[in-house]
Amino acid sequence: MSAVTGGARPPAAGGGAGRLALPDFPWDALAPHAERARRAPGGLVDLSVGTPVDPTPALLRDALAGASDAPGYPQVWGTPAVREAVAAWFARRRGVPDLDPDGVMPTPGSKELVAWLPTLLGLGPGDVVVHPLVAYPTYDVGARLAGAAPLPLDDVASLPSPVVDLPGGGTGRVRLVWLNSPSNPTGAVDDVRRLAEVVAWAREHDVVVAGDECYAELGWTPADRGAAGEVDVDERGDLVPPSVLDPRATGGDSRGVLSVYSLSKQSNLAGYRAAFVAGCPALVRHLVGVRKHAGVIVPRPVQEVLRTALGDDAHVAEQKERYRARRAVLRDAVTAAGGRVERSDAGLYLWTTFDEPAMDTVARLADRGVLVAPGSFYGAAGERHVRVALTATDERVASAAERLAG
Ligand SMILES: Cc1ncc(COP(=O)(O)O)c(C=O)c1O
Repeated sequence: MSAVTGGARPPAAGGGAGRLALPDFPWDALAPHAERARRAPGGLVDLSVGTPVDPTPALLRDALAGASDAPGYPQVWGTPAVREAVAAWFARRRGVPDLDPDGVMPTPGSKELVAWLPTLLGLGPGDVVVHPLVAYPTYDVGARLAGAAPLPLDDVASLPSPVVDLPGGGTGRVRLVWLNSPSNPTGAVDDVRRLAEVVAWAREHDVVVAGDECYAELGWTPADRGAAGEVDVDERGDLVPPSVLDPRATGGDSRGVLSVYSLSKQSNLAGYRAAFVAGCPALVRHLVGVRKHAGVIVPRPVQEVLRTALGDDAHVAEQKERYRARRAVLRDAVTAAGGRVERSDAGLYLWTTFDEPAMDTVARLADRGVLVAPGSFYGAAGERHVRVALTATDERVASAAERLAG
């Protein structure tokens, strides 16, 4: 993702061309493989994107219908009820007992906020946005949209100073650190000790920390790393990924820390664009202030869906069981096919290597009709891995397993 090309530039107009130089959209490169996979016997099984395929729960569709009379403008900040629902959910599900509802803002999906957060925080040239080495591409894009420099780096807390040398030459000052736990694409989970280290470093240097956490309800295997007691598990023995707002990480003070969250995955709501940011009230107030000018608002009916979804754990648990079953089938299948699944402790992906370049794996599996994403989409460190998504129907997952075994 480090290559910056002119492929996405708008036509030259008034000298603006080149100011917004973004990478080519990575999925476009998969089109020829998708085409080949489509021609395989049994057709395409698309495990390349993490888009939910199961129905939106009836409870949430009813909530949308019930709130469809919405003639007036909704508030950027969200209704008090939705902000209180977020705070109650953090207390019940995320181990954050005292989130201030004032420090909550709904967002129309979290990709939008990831892409614009550096701009909304006023970052620009000379500023640096740190994100994980192997990462969801939008952290890099968001830095570029702001004119800041993206810096892929896992161990930010070991930097002696926030002033850093940049890969392209020159120096910049770190202003924002993205954490992504559970990770897309690797499924790695940060324990509270690591979260606390990053928060402490960021506070010392007046840097904002944003934790992108939308796979938190999809914990699987307790990682066998770290000392006992650092990894939480639920009554089923599933890993419970901690939030960056966990008081063990923040000392009970959310200053400078944000959690970015989405219901796209856990509630099958990707089509609704139902997400939120929560944490430091002063930062959230700032974001609300800027977005009022820009008119970025979650539609009122979707705010009601968000509120309803956060109050109901049953549909989330039900969806998790669907993914648990698909994960077991796909894990066995990729292992039988010679792949090695690494990390993948939580989330919707199996981070897999066949000990060959990622595009070779993509091509081989596409010949059998199974489309996966090359790890190189997520940074150079992913160039020998592929990401296998669990987001296909039971029928398609079974079909993929058959072909991988054959
Ligand atoms: C790490 C991560 N962050 C953010 C998003 C965006 O989610 P949405 O825009 O659907 O809320 C995704 C979606 O795949 C993701 O994987």
